[in-house]
Amino acid sequence: MRTLIKNALKSAHPADSITVKGWVRTRRDSKEFSFIELNDGSCLGNLQCIADAGISGYDDIHKMSTGAAVGITGQLIESQGKGQTWEIHASSLELIGESPSDFPLQKKGHSPEFLRSISHLRPRANLYGAVFRMRSRLSKAIHRFFDEQDFTYVHTPIITDSDCEGAGEMFRVTTQQQGAAPKPEEDFFGKDTYLTVSGQLEGEAFATALSNVYTFGPTFRAENSHTTRHASEFWMVEPEMAFCDLEGDMDLAEEFVKYLVKDVLDNNEGDLEIFNKFVDKGLRKRLEFVAERPFQRVSYTEAIDILLASGQKFEYPVEWGVNLQSEHERFLTEEHFKCPTTVYNYPKSVKPFYMRTNDDGKTVTAMDVLVPGIGEIIGGAQREERLDVLQANMKDHGLSEEDYWWYLDLRKYGTCPHAGFGLGFERMLMFVTGMKNIRDVIPFARTPGSCEF
Ligand code: 4AD
Ligand code: MG
Repeated sequence: MRTLIKNALKSAHPADSITVKGWVRTRRDSKEFSFIELNDGSCLGNLQCIADAGISGYDDIHKMSTGAAVGITGQLIESQGKGQTWEIHASSLELIGESPSDFPLQKKGHSPEFLRSISHLRPRANLYGAVFRMRSRLSKAIHRFFDEQDFTYVHTPIITDSDCEGAGEMFRVTTQQQGAAPKPEEDFFGKDTYLTVSGQLEGEAFATALSNVYTFGPTFRAENSHTTRHASEFWMVEPEMAFCDLEGDMDLAEEFVKYLVKDVLDNNEGDLEIFNKFVDKGLRKRLEFVAERPFQRVSYTEAIDILLASGQKFEYPVEWGVNLQSEHERFLTEEHFKCPTTVYNYPKSVKPFYMRTNDDGKTVTAMDVLVPGIGEIIGGAQREERLDVLQANMKDHGLSEEDYWWYLDLRKYGTCPHAGFGLGFERMLMFVTGMKNIRDVIPFARTPGSCEF
């Protein structure tokens, strides 16, 4: 039976014989024995192993170099080494897979750019192992949050014929024989189809049947944004609630972000340590602050007034009616409020067709949650539930009622106020790890000009 290194390292007592398997981080040899640091990806820490010369398998010791897959059986004993709890005194070694000296992850510092060029080996680097374990835990915390709140998990489609956000930034789906040119004219579905930009519209269909639902899946955007927070393929968490208004939507968004931050603080299995030490020394303190303090809430109009009054020179000039740019969002959260901020009631002209028009006729019930260091992590809204107003909005946006007949049906039959939002999963991960580039929190990043493998 194989023991995971994370369990060996937190063992309550010594053990006569355990077997661990993993990849060699480092090895040092002396005449009488060798030291191996082994990691199996189950946790940040390595298990140190002392192997006396002459034990079974020792003949291969010179092949157990950095990156090699090795099995070690031996006694789990209390470690004399500083900062270590347990180590293994080997009785036998097994070379499972060699790793020649050109293994790219030799023990030294590597730049994020270099590591992105070897996405297939990158999770073996300590920092990235921690990122991807965090990604897994955060996914589970998301499901737990909605489960505790009685939400139903809905699987919305990846292939769709609608552009939810109306930004025209979709990837077209075509059929193609391998090696041949694409043939969009022989369209498989008999119409143009795309990879989804959001599961919201289908989420609304389910919310207006099952009350509280959420989707959590990959979404795709063909936006040509070369920034550290935009990816062409990213994951989104989208709750949608029937009988809910903008206020309830903002409350849930805040509660959700806090729940995830608390979960990271309480259940990070030691991984937070590496981010706090090597990525962002203020991380833990900032997360503790975010978990405790209420978020700031301001209307878009108030936000514009603050930006105008700041006297700050922005690259994109501020005036009522413009969409908030990253620099504006960062000013609000980092310089002005110094905490996460929810901005609501945006101008109608900068938001999609489905948002509810306010009584002023100029603004819609949109809300974005902005956080320091990143900017927008959540975008959401109360939806337009009045059939006639929605029809008018669609007309203004140049959308045909034929294409959205089913979406209009939701307003025709038993319409009700409802609201929801989308959390960018990678942006949330950046927030809780301090990682500065979205490419470094997704296993295989797809960004404009880059889909390596
Ligand atoms: O603000 P967005 O575009 O909202 C929607 O798609 C709504 N339909 C969601 C809803 O109400 N159900 O996107 C939501 C979030 C953004 O706040 C951001 O965190 C993330 O998705 N996001 C991206 N993340 C990475 N790369 C991109 N290109 C992203 N575009 C949006
Ligand atoms: Mg948005």
